[in-house]
Amino acid sequence: MEYDVAFVGLGYVGLSSAVCFADRGINVLGVDIDAKKLGMIKKLNSPIHEKNINELLEKSIKKKKLSLSKELKDVTKAKIIFLTVGTPSRKDGSIDLKYINQASKDIGIAIKNVQEYFVIVVKSTVVPGTTLRIIENLEKYSGKKNSIDFGVVVNPEFLQEGNAINDSLKPDKVVLGINSEKDKKIMFNLFKKIYRKNLPIVYTTPSNAELIKYANNSLLATKISFMNYIARIAEQIPDGDVEEIKNAIGMDKRISESFLNAGLGFGGSCFPKDVKALIAFSKELNINSDILQSVLTINDTQFMSVFNVLNKELGALEGKKISILGLSFKPETDDIRDAISLKIIKKLLDKKAIVKVYDPIANNNVKDIYGKSISYSSNSESCIKGSECCIIVTEWKEFKSLKPKDFIRLMKRPLIIDGRRIFSKKKFNKLEYHAIGLG
Ligand code: UDX
Repeated sequence: MEYDVAFVGLGYVGLSSAVCFADRGINVLGVDIDAKKLGMIKKLNSPIHEKNINELLEKSIKKKKLSLSKELKDVTKAKIIFLTVGTPSRKDGSIDLKYINQASKDIGIAIKNVQEYFVIVVKSTVVPGTTLRIIENLEKYSGKKNSIDFGVVVNPEFLQEGNAINDSLKPDKVVLGINSEKDKKIMFNLFKKIYRKNLPIVYTTPSNAELIKYANNSLLATKISFMNYIARIAEQIPDGDVEEIKNAIGMDKRISESFLNAGLGFGGSCFPKDVKALIAFSKELNINSDILQSVLTINDTQFMSVFNVLNKELGALEGKKISILGLSFKPETDDIRDAISLKIIKKLLDKKAIVKVYDPIANNNVKDIYGKSISYSSNSESCIKGSECCIIVTEWKEFKSLKPKDFIRLMKRPLIIDGRRIFSKKKFNKLEYHAIGLG
């Protein structure tokens, strides 16, 4: 066959995986219906901002390890077909399967007259039971039989934006929801070329693999909201400091130290969407999901801690100059999907404040939403200059090098709200320093 694998959908997961597989010497075909996106990729200009991705893209296209197509029917040139299309949220929080349905129908039609055993790999995040529907679609449109003429496996993705290449090549684990020994062999032969020798592969059923992804993300989101809840308590007690609590409880191996950072809440394309989808799915099963509902409620209200400080310190915000450092939903990405910065800007504008913002790479994305209603700086110093309060919304590394004297020198009033705990409370106590989880 012309290709070893094909990726249907070159979004975050599809494109990162495609360049990583190609870098490992696998012959990859990337398929996407978006001509603009394909055009950028062909010009070696990644549509997603990710460390090292342009280098890998260039290498894999020049070495002819990665080819691109707009035609879904071309997937039949590859033995293993990864489904990496998006599964966005519907209004009620449940997942919208329109792209999955379309892709599985098109793959079904494409493989209909091809005498080859294909393995279709569901990498998109889907709720338990979806893969069964994908199989139904494939059988209906191809006239072929699952497990005999083709196989379907589930292989959820756990990569973090900003670290996508590293996570794709060196994941903590690979989960494979698989029903047949034949598919297991095919997938193992592929994965042994990509991952380290002792990588734990978790073999499970397709439905369990689907649920593992939701459980994984929902538990991480729960850790964050739990710490934000503890932060609220710490703020109310003299000498309270959520950082000290985090450090101590993180030493307990049963808890682990990661994802315990209190802040202004989680954003991004996954946590909010996946938690909502699991809630909607539980509802279908008549299972109470108060636990996850609380995770969302805490997250939705966490940014208000900024306004509690502003109300107390500045009173009415009309005409007050507020600067925001950090716009992306987290550092090392320009992604602003569900970013907390957007909620803060909206509320500040509702209160008629004058807003100036700076992000190392996400300014333009915010400009698309807020246009001229706020102003944009090209560095942190010009952003905080003349402002009456500076809010740290995203913990970009470069903000950490700002010193108390910089804020004193540049701001009209050195009032800081450290929404991500990037500064040392000892060094900043000479300023009006407020921070999440600090009493
Ligand atoms: C997440 C999952 O981590 C990943 O496994 C999955 O494949 C996709 O969703 P991502 O959305 O890229 O990845 O970002 P992540 O690093 O997990 O952070 C999500 C949000 O949580 C960010 O807004 C971040 O600021 C916030 N966060 C993270 C905290 O507030 N505290 C923490 O301790 C960690």
